Amino acid sequence: MTGPVVIVGAGGHARVVADALMCQGVEVRGFVDPDVSLHGSPVYGRPVLGGDAVLDEPDLLDCDLVNGLGGVGLEGGPPLRRRVQERLQARGRRFVGVRHPTAHVSPRADLAADVQVLAGAVIQPGARIGAGSVINTRAVIEHDCRLGGFVHCAPGSVVCGDVDLGDDVHVGAGSVIRQGLILGRGVVVAAGAAVVADQNLAAVLMGVPAKVRG
Ligand SMILES: CC(C)(COP(=O)(O)OP(=O)(O)OC[C@H]1O[C@@H](n2cnc3c(N)ncnc32)[C@H](O)[C@@H]1OP(=O)(O)O)[C@@H](O)C(=O)NCCC(=O)NCCS
Repeated sequence: MTGPVVIVGAGGHARVVADALMCQGVEVRGFVDPDVSLHGSPVYGRPVLGGDAVLDEPDLLDCDLVNGLGGVGLEGGPPLRRRVQERLQARGRRFVGVRHPTAHVSPRADLAADVQVLAGAVIQPGARIGAGSVINTRAVIEHDCRLGGFVHCAPGSVVCGDVDLGDDVHVGAGSVIRQGLILGRGVVVAAGAAVVADQNLAAVLMGVPAKVRG
């Protein structure tokens, strides 16, 4: 069982993650967020403790961290979620994963320790999922898929069998990736898209069938 944790971020994704952890019976000590207007105000009865600096206080030094930052990967460079986690890991902090009790993760899938699997998500055998990735509400990762680091499969997305997703790929809500395809680092799939061809270079794919946004 995961010990007490602090969630990094206090926005929408952080609250979903907090709820999942509470359903798992994990003690959430609180949240850290740079937005001073949130400091001191409770989220589901747990305080927003302050900015990152409070993580060095003695009573929080032993807490593991959970990444509460979402985002769609459109901002320049690696997504904020990756940048913040890597900065805190460089300070020696450990990030742990989330498994909502209603998620199904095949015992024959291989997930990095900090992967987040949220309510109703399904991960089938042979899937391999890299560090920092989020398999969000009711997303499906079919057999033998390979996901890099900090991939976000948004709610209701379906990644068919044997798909290869590079680092920092965002698979939009309700989208479908046809079996056997390869999407390169940083590709963003729009909500509701149906991807039917490989895409090596970072781009936004939109529509049915999906095309690169001009
Ligand atoms: C694709 C996406 C990243 C584009 O974001 P954006 O650059 O801010 O785009 P905008 O909202 O400014 O829209 C730009 C144009 O694309 C269209 N568009 C936006 N999203 C679209 C989508 N999913 N499918 C089809 N067209 C879309 C808009 O209608 C607009 O068209 P117009 O220029 O003819 O008016 C975003 O719309 C999206 O789908 N994100 C994924 C959301 C998601 O997965 N959320 C879950 C979080 S947990």
